[in-house]
Amino acid sequence: MDFGKLIPRSYKNELRKAVRGEGIYLYDEDGREFIDGCSGALISSLGHGNKEVAKAVYDQLVKLEFAHPSRWRNDATLEAAEEVASIAPGDLKNVWFVSGGSEAIESALKIARQYFVERDGKGSGKTTFIARWNSYHGSTIGTMGLAGSMPRRRDFTPLFQETPKIQPHYCYRCPYGQTYPSCDLRCARSLENEILRLGPERVLAFVAEPVVGSTVGGLHPPVEYWPIVREICTKYDVLLIADEVMTGIGRTGKAFCVNHWDVIPDIICSAKAMASGYSPAGAILVSQKLVDVLKGGSGAFQHGHTYNANPATAAAVTATLRIMKRDGLFENAAARGEELMKGLRELMDIPIVGEVRGMGLMRGVEIVADKATKAPFPAKTKAAAVVTSCCMDHGLVVYPGTGMISGVAGDQFLVAPPLIVTSEQIGEILARLRSGLEDAVKKLNG
Ligand SMILES: Cc1ncc(COP(=O)(O)O)c(C=O)c1O
Repeated sequence: MDFGKLIPRSYKNELRKAVRGEGIYLYDEDGREFIDGCSGALISSLGHGNKEVAKAVYDQLVKLEFAHPSRWRNDATLEAAEEVASIAPGDLKNVWFVSGGSEAIESALKIARQYFVERDGKGSGKTTFIARWNSYHGSTIGTMGLAGSMPRRRDFTPLFQETPKIQPHYCYRCPYGQTYPSCDLRCARSLENEILRLGPERVLAFVAEPVVGSTVGGLHPPVEYWPIVREICTKYDVLLIADEVMTGIGRTGKAFCVNHWDVIPDIICSAKAMASGYSPAGAILVSQKLVDVLKGGSGAFQHGHTYNANPATAAAVTATLRIMKRDGLFENAAARGEELMKGLRELMDIPIVGEVRGMGLMRGVEIVADKATKAPFPAKTKAAAVVTSCCMDHGLVVYPGTGMISGVAGDQFLVAPPLIVTSEQIGEILARLRSGLEDAVKKLNG
């Protein structure tokens, strides 16, 4: 395949050329229509071709395209911060903008460390983060050490500092061999053991995705999980950082996923749907406690990227969030998400569908070779890639992932259409999904 001078994601994958998008649909160079069943990677929540956002960005670009944030304020960014703060839980009303998810996580790690240094002095022993296995937090050197997705980081391990990790709430394959609810949430309680093992005086923060995205496809927690980890973090003076890069901005049916359990973290990381793909955007939402320490101390977050607080992105964020509010898209995600889940449950008659899960319009399907034993397909079968390509043949784009079992085997995919999706379109997605999965069964078992 000819990519010209471009370094593509893979020289070995055949990629269709996307030339146009409209609503939940993408069109290739031959005019073939595809349903964007995963919003890219949970980005395009407003759908494609939204002229209102495009106009807002254009209007801003012709007025003021850039003014460096170290020397200027600008109205677009101030306004965008107000919009983000208006949907933020609790006192997370302080907004630091970045250009994407990895930058948001890096910013959260740094502001967490700076908080303790300014609060307790430069000798603060709080230097260690705790994260979870089977997680993804970004592709920078810093975020790779934090995250626990082996396929994505294996080759780079000598480069980064490993973060201590606890097991996730993977109930379908409980790492402790237990069953919910008699397990008494051992996975959540293991955070306390890990803090005590390391010494609370060393632990800065616990970082986790409220619903696991790309690494375990839509893995949602038991309702008790986040309240328990919040309590443990508070008890040991450890900050709680929610990575809502995928789950945030209405994806699970509420503005932020932690709202489902009335949990208020110390920092939320957001990106992806924040500007719905119309501009690279991200942010951290920071609690008043942290900001007060910085304000009363050095007075500055020792951090910054050139595009932090850039007006064009800010205009895209403001327009995106206003449309979402006006059109009730968080509520639509909740209602359409229930319909999607009902339809996914009906796909359980297909022999390779092991589990369906998730919240709102962030749903996942785990693919297995044997339903009774939950045995995965051998990694070399590339079952997730086979399913994805069969779904593409039926005009449906889904988001595959692998390696959640022992870092090698295991296949799953996310179904997460734009938040504008209608009931009728959910029906169309499910029909195309069934056809794709049935073809995949023939290919994988044939
Ligand atoms: C949960 C989570 N955190 C962080 C990131 C990194 O975001 P980005 O790719 O914008 O750097 C991602 C990306 O998929 C993600 O899913």
